[in-house]
Amino acid sequence: MNSPPLLSSWEIEAMLRGEKLLSFDLGVTYDEYEVIQKGSVLCVEGVFCLPVPVLKRAARRRGRVYSLEGEGERYQLRHVAIRDRHYYQLVQPQRGKPTTLEIDGIHMHRIKGSDPYRDAMEKVEALGVRRNHAVWDTCGGLGYTTIFSLRKGAQVLTTEKDPNVLKLARINPWSREMWRADVRNADAFHFVKKLPDNSFDRILHDPPRFALAGELYSLEFYRQLYRVLKPGGVLYHYTGSPGRKRGKDIQRGVMRRLFEAGFRYLKRERKTEGVIAVKPAR
Ligand SMILES: C[S@@+](CC[C@H](N)C(=O)[O-])C[C@H]1O[C@@H](n2cnc3c(N)ncnc32)[C@H](O)[C@@H]1O
Repeated sequence: MNSPPLLSSWEIEAMLRGEKLLSFDLGVTYDEYEVIQKGSVLCVEGVFCLPVPVLKRAARRRGRVYSLEGEGERYQLRHVAIRDRHYYQLVQPQRGKPTTLEIDGIHMHRIKGSDPYRDAMEKVEALGVRRNHAVWDTCGGLGYTTIFSLRKGAQVLTTEKDPNVLKLARINPWSREMWRADVRNADAFHFVKKLPDNSFDRILHDPPRFALAGELYSLEFYRQLYRVLKPGGVLYHYTGSPGRKRGKDIQRGVMRRLFEAGFRYLKRERKTEGVIAVKPAR
């Protein structure tokens, strides 16, 4: 078991129901435990004892993730979150399924009708990552698109601007495979300028929404992406569809700027709400 053990609200609910098959790594692995209630204290044998009211309170915050800290008689549940210029928390949308990252209340993966791993896997599939491809994952997050690119046998460079995100990725059991990639704490917008021409077979660009990171949707940045892609290389650009209900089509502007940067064979990737673009072979 990893230390410290991690528990989601769902797992705590399951314990309170007396279930024995439990996970202390947010559903990556499950084991059988003896769960015993002595008066108002609930003990998971060999792991911890905590007052039932504390557990009930923690279980009410649906999707919340806690680390179990302390020892002997003095255990406590600590909410896995960081309060800084932004508010970050790991969230588990469903029991046993991968976590997502929430920044200021915004989820970093599509979770409606999907789950964070499926979301990442579909983006990597759309990009067509293959064995031995050199891939740049511009906005690392919890590393899920990096993980699925690694699983395809690619060599992956991952940049993530925010050290708090990397801290949560270090804690998150679903991010463990990410560290097989070359992970840098760097701002993709500036970092790209240091990269040599024609370096990557594939670029996976999964930025925060336009309103939060407009520079990652700019012509200036797209020109750099074009420069560092190999001829024949492919870009996948997640856009989402903010403002769709108000008749806004963000992909149109993205595609226009990608075209202006030199990309061709542009197409909308409807399943994942992204755009695919190719740097033509010479
Ligand atoms: C939608 S999430 C990426 C999710 C990731 N693909 C995954 O599968 O877990 C966007 C991430 O981009 C990061 N980010 C924002 N601006 C950035 C920048 N300029 N350079 C690199 N990362 C950035 C955010 O901190 C956030 O973690």
